Parts: sequence; C-alpha cells; structure tokens
Amino acid sequence: MSLISRWQAPSNIALVKYWGKYGIQLPCNPSVSLTLQAARTETQVEAIPIVGSGGEPVQFYLDGQRKEGFEPKIWALLQLLGDDCGFWKAHSLRISSSNTFPHSAGIASSASGMAALALCLLDLELQFRGQERPPNFYQIASRWARLGSGSACRSLYGGFVSWGASKGLNSSLEEGAPLPFEVHSIFNGMRDAILMVDQAEKKVSSTVGHGLMTDHWYAERRFLQAESNTQRLLNILIEGDSQGFIELAEAEALSLHAMMMTSASNYLLMRPNTIAVIEEIRTFRKQTSLPVCFTLDAGPNVHVLYPNSIQDKVQIFLEEVSAKFCQGKRLDDAMGNGPVERISNV
Ligand code: PMV
Repeated sequence: MSLISRWQAPSNIALVKYWGKYGIQLPCNPSVSLTLQAARTETQVEAIPIVGSGGEPVQFYLDGQRKEGFEPKIWALLQLLGDDCGFWKAHSLRISSSNTFPHSAGIASSASGMAALALCLLDLELQFRGQERPPNFYQIASRWARLGSGSACRSLYGGFVSWGASKGLNSSLEEGAPLPFEVHSIFNGMRDAILMVDQAEKKVSSTVGHGLMTDHWYAERRFLQAESNTQRLLNILIEGDSQGFIELAEAEALSLHAMMMTSASNYLLMRPNTIAVIEEIRTFRKQTSLPVCFTLDAGPNVHVLYPNSIQDKVQIFLEEVSAKFCQGKRLDDAMGNGPVERISNV
C-alpha cells in the first residue's frame, strides 16, 4: 500500500545572515530570521512500494512537470539521513511540489521546499514504523531540513527563528528554534514586501557562495560580526528598538553582499535597480520618518520590512517603486505562523 504525506512550509528571510558553513551543513555563525506567510511551498510525497526490480527511486515534479535537475539534491538528502529515515529503501518516491513564488528569484524556495520535504519524509518514516508523532517532531524535521538546505531549518517555526548556538538562543548548530521570548509588540505581524527587481535564475548559487567563505579574507571578522549582531538583535526585539532594527537589518544585508563582492572569485548579485530601490527606501524614510527598511537575500530582489501598523502609509510608496523598478512585480508578505499539514489530494 502507498503511503502519502502532504505539507506546506513557508519561506523565511534572514535578518542576521547565515553565510559560510562547514562539516555537514553546519553554520559558521548564528542567524535569525522572520518566517513569511505568503511565500510557501506545498509538497506531497507518495511512497509506492517497490515490487521486483522497481522503477526510478525518486521522481520530482514542480507544478506538474518532471524536473530531474532537482532529484540529485533530494537523493543526497536521503543518503545523509541514513538509518533515521529508511522507508524509502523499500519505496519509490513520487514528489510533487508547487511554490507560490518564482523559483530561484532570491526568495528562498530551497528553504520552504526543503522544510516541506523534511516534514513529509519524517511523517512517512513514522507512518512506516507505525509510530506516533513525538513531541519534538518539528525539531527533528528542522534537523532533517538543514541537511537539504541550511536556511530551511528555520522554516519549521513561525515568527522569529534562530539557528546556531549563541547566548539566549534555544537553537543549536544542528537545528533551528523559535526565539525563546515574546518579541516587543511593534514587531508583531511585521510586513515584508518583496520587490522583484529581477526574476532570472541566480548566476552564482548559495552553495558556491558559502564555499567562497572558506578562504575569505574577511571570514573571521564576518562571523564575529554576525555573532555580535545576533546578540544586538535579541535586545532590539525585546526592547522594541525600531531604529536599532533598521540599522541592523540594512547593515546585515550589505555585509552579506560585501562578502560576495570581496571573495577570491568575486561576483555581484545586486542589479542597478536593487541600488535604485534601496535609495528610494532611504529617501522615503528620511522624508516621512516612517520605520521602513530593507534587507536582501542572496539575490537582486529587495525585501522591504515595516511594521504592520503603517501598512496604509507605505502602500502607495510600494506601488510606485515596484511600478518604476520592478515592472509592478512584488509579493506583499508578512510574518507567518510556520508549516501546516495538508490533506492529500490523491
Ligand atoms: O540555505 P542556503 O544554503 O540556501 O543559504 C542561504 C543563505 C542566505 O539566504 C543568503 C542567508 C540566510 O541566512 O538565509
């Protein structure tokens, strides 16, 4: 009999960035992210018992189309999981996924994708063993997701989530965890409008980017900066320090891109319109005194962060900027609650 699992997981945007890894997907510095609501991946895994010599072990479909290019990454994850996840050895996996946003557009589709996949695999392993979901179900899924894509381990929880070890965090090098305190009310429901400057596939993958941190001139200082910014951010979130948040979010975004621009083999993921949008945000903030700031992922698109309470005042600005620099393409997102289980449609 086939086993089926279906989960939806959100993307997340890092405020303190993870950039540089070692061992088996372990981060060189702690990171803190905001879980999103609208940018999500929904994945269904159907495990079909292998009869005789069996068929293909893994088939991956994105929006109904077979995408063999993704299969080696899934295969690698299954190998890394080893005996913890063994059901697939007796099954062939048919994996169907869809995103609410463009793949490889600098919105972390690998984060939501790997988080959704990890949840399905863990769920299926438990079904296969005839076991109940343990209390640390999401913790295990976070560890599994990390093996597929580091930042994915933060997509297992809603709100503000950390990954890595640092004072005051519940996360570890192996798995993400929600921040262990109530953030100040000004950050509740925080909004993130993603301005799509360029939706083309990235020229340099994050895997290559992490690799370039190994011999990077500034790596050690960067890891210390991220550690210090993690501690600063925790205070900012507790105290409701809006100005501190703006300074930290923008400095982290620019540090991430500065690492790319100063690595042995240097590259630029920002486009001219990325800079133009950043300038517009800074001018708008100066003119209006509204607490609007930007962050960037490893890509050209600009994430505009602002409190829920000023949404009306920011809306026209976002429309004008996205019309001028992004052909009107943007995704209005906000802080989300984390993954949800879906009813299988098979
Ligand atoms: O999870 P990866 O390997 O795709 O790395 C992503 C790293 C950044 O998105 C640039 C930063 C982060 O912490 O999410």
